Amino acid sequence: MEQYIIKGGNSLAGEVEIGGAKNAALAILAAAIMADDTVEIDKLPDVNDINVMLEAITAIGASVQRIDRHTVRINGSGITNINIEYDYIKKIRASYYLLGALLGKYKKSQVALPGGCNIGSRPIDQHLKGFRALGADVDIENGKIVAEAEALRGTHLYFDVVSVGATINVMMAAAMAEGVTIMENVAKEPHVVDVANFLNSMGANIRGAGTDVIKIRGVKKLHKSEYSIIPDQIEAGTFMFAAAVTKGDVTVTNVIPKHLESMIAKLIDIGCEVYESDDAVRVVAKRRPRCTQVKTLPYPGYPTDMQPQIGVALALAGGTSTITESIFENRFKYLDELARMGANIKVEGNSAIIRGVERFSGARVSAPDLRAGAALCIAGLAAEGITIVDDIVYIQRGYECFEEKLRSLGGIIERVSSEKEIQKFQLKVS
Ligand code: EPZ
Repeated sequence: MEQYIIKGGNSLAGEVEIGGAKNAALAILAAAIMADDTVEIDKLPDVNDINVMLEAITAIGASVQRIDRHTVRINGSGITNINIEYDYIKKIRASYYLLGALLGKYKKSQVALPGGCNIGSRPIDQHLKGFRALGADVDIENGKIVAEAEALRGTHLYFDVVSVGATINVMMAAAMAEGVTIMENVAKEPHVVDVANFLNSMGANIRGAGTDVIKIRGVKKLHKSEYSIIPDQIEAGTFMFAAAVTKGDVTVTNVIPKHLESMIAKLIDIGCEVYESDDAVRVVAKRRPRCTQVKTLPYPGYPTDMQPQIGVALALAGGTSTITESIFENRFKYLDELARMGANIKVEGNSAIIRGVERFSGARVSAPDLRAGAALCIAGLAAEGITIVDDIVYIQRGYECFEEKLRSLGGIIERVSSEKEIQKFQLKVS
């Protein structure tokens, strides 16, 4: 089992280029099969989740041609199977985007029901509500979602919960329904807009993505396209907070500053200097973070995927801070790991009361999920001594070249997989 081993104490400094947005790419890869033409997508992040989604698309008969690490050509004309096996859903929940894509294109689809995961139960009732509103029969049979429709017809739908996944999944199905669909109380994340832009580049007619109301005029066919994924605002935020935690000076390049506004506001709140240009943001942290209050919210609010990262900064801040996690019911597990490094945190329901400490001490910790794993690495970079992070397979699902990028900023971090390699690292850095 691979681990990261980290020697803390260096302030991160320098520039790091941000890759394509994982959560936009996963949905766009699913949507790409809706055309019977060749669709070329670039700026894909080269991470495990993307590779699993490409395997799932290949498994149903689409042709997938990897041009390079970040570019793929997909042609959905050869699809012979509308059944997505549990194996793929178990590996990545986002395979459920194939439900909306296949239902939109073929008016039928079968996808294994996704389970919960480390951050919460994550129901998909809003996805199913949307498909039913479009006229599909949707049943759960033997652990599978079976969706079928004579025809999909435009509808006026109000989501009970703001859901990124449901917004995207239903938008894909509605893109090829008959007539007009109006969706309200939708998610406005940058990756929702990216998927809408991608579908429109294939000939769909979607307006209003990024606002509270999305209007979709269904089309019969979608055609070829060449598309570039937007930069990953969560990867960018992760490196920005790494600067804040290590009192560093880091510039993230190839970003869209507008997508980072809520994170920039919080970085300034905790005492960082932030300088924006067209496609880069520089974060300078000259002193220990200040305490503050933060509540995770749907976009444009502070993102839940950035909650562990600010949690690490506040655990080192002067004073007492609070974090309220309003999106997922179980996203504080990393705080137990942080406590082993010396953090002083009390969780009460969906809030964490954080009494900042002067410093962390290195310890052996385990990554409970993707974003918390990245945050624990950042904590290790600030800690005194050596930190070992287990279960880094989570981190590799969503961060390309994570340790290489941290090393390029002066972080002392290596990937190891044996006690021997750990001892070798300890000798080297001692
Ligand atoms: C997406 O998950 C992201 N994943 C998550 O990122 C992200 O944390 C989340 O959006 C919120 O921004 C991908 O895009 C692949 P939701 P998703 O549906 O779509 C409830 C990462 O680290 N809900 O917006 O599953 C749900 O329980 C991952 O990259 C329902 O009740 O999130 C949650 O409380 C982690 N019924 C809330 O809505 C539904 O039908 C928001 O979930 C759907 C969701």
